[in-house]
Formats: sequence, structure tokens, C-alpha cells
Amino acid sequence: MNQPAHVVYEGLRIGDADRCAELEAQLFPGDDPWPAVAFIRELESRHNHYVAARVDGQLVGYAGITRLGRKPPFEYEVHTIGVDTAFQGRGIGRRLLDMLLEIADGGAVFLEVRTDNDAAIKLYQSVGFGVVGLRKRYYRVSGADAYTMRRDPRETS
Ligand SMILES: CC(C)(COP(=O)(O)OP(=O)(O)OC[C@H]1O[C@@H](n2cnc3c(N)ncnc32)[C@H](O)[C@@H]1OP(=O)(O)O)[C@@H](O)C(=O)NCCC(=O)NCCS
Repeated sequence: MNQPAHVVYEGLRIGDADRCAELEAQLFPGDDPWPAVAFIRELESRHNHYVAARVDGQLVGYAGITRLGRKPPFEYEVHTIGVDTAFQGRGIGRRLLDMLLEIADGGAVFLEVRTDNDAAIKLYQSVGFGVVGLRKRYYRVSGADAYTMRRDPRETS
């Protein structure tokens, strides 16, 4: 088992913004990685919820979701998810995504993902997301296309 000894999952904090920007630069080099100030803005919005994974106190993963609309039933949008390349493939991304889905609490969830991002697409499909659209040149810098994926709302009786 390749799981690191101890991964701590908790809320992301403003003080993590610089490290998030560092990870973004590592993970999205050609796609307009978010600077620290973007994370600070995200964390300041009360409609957003960000989670963190830490190993030995060091941030190794982050993910965030936003709630759309003013009244229920709410829909949600995953804004970002990333795991330090040194810690990928150990279940951290899946756990962070599960935490976002718990926050969405059965509401419909949308996200955009590069059409060539096989690892992320597999992860999303494995928790019930399906492709519902194609957005040409969605990523402004690279010009790469994105799929819009949706996870259907949970039926309530
Ligand atoms: C996508 C990402 C967050 C996954 O995080 P991770 O911690 O490596 O993922 P996990 O170890 O939890 O794996 C979860 C699932 O993802 C898929 N997956 C992960 N790595 C994969 C790979 N290299 N190839 C194919 N599928 C992969 C698998 O379905 C895997 O489930 P399994 O282990 O049961 O087969 C990570 O690869 C990442 O940070 N990528 C760069 C940033 C990014 O692209 N973010 C998404 C933007 S939309």
C-alpha cells in the first residue's frame, strides 16, 4: 500500500494561499495557474468551501466547490482540485473530492476538465460524473478544450 503514513484532512486556510499557488504552478503550468490572491478571494467568499490534505504539516492537496443560486435545490460547481505530484496515486484526490461531494449533499454538481486529462476524468466518472458538454478553447492560455461534467442530483423521496 502506497498510502503516506498520516494524511490530515481539514479546511483550507488563508495562510495556505502561497503554497496553493506553488502547487498550481506545478500542476497547471500552461493553463493560467491561480496566484495566491485568487485563493484568498476564493476563501473569502462564503459560498465557497475549500478542503486541504496535509502530510507532516505540509499542504499536499486542495480542492474547492462553490454553491450556486440563492434558494434550494442548490447546484454546485467544483472550482479546483489538485494533489502534489509527489503524493498522487495514493487516494488523496479521491478523498478530497468525496469531501466536496459531502458538502454538495446530493445536489447537482458541475465541473470543467481538460478533454486530455485522463486521470481526472476517470476519477470524476468513478463517482458518478458524466460528460454533458464540450467547451471549445475553454482554457484561454493553452487553448485546450474542456468537457463539462455533471453529477446528477440524488433523488429524494
Ligand atoms: C486528478 C488528481 C487530483 C487525482 O488525485 P490523486 O490523489 O492522484 O488521485 P487518487 O489517487 O485519489 O486516484 C483516484 C482515481 O483517479 C484516477 N486516476 C488517478 N491517477 C490516474 C492516472 N495516472 N491514470 C488514470 N487514472 C488515474 C483513478 O480512477 C483513481 O482511482 P483508482 O485508484 O481506484 O484507480 C491529480 O492527478 C492531480 O492533481 N492532477 C493535476 C491537477 C488536475 O488535473 N486537477 C483536475 C483539474 S479538473
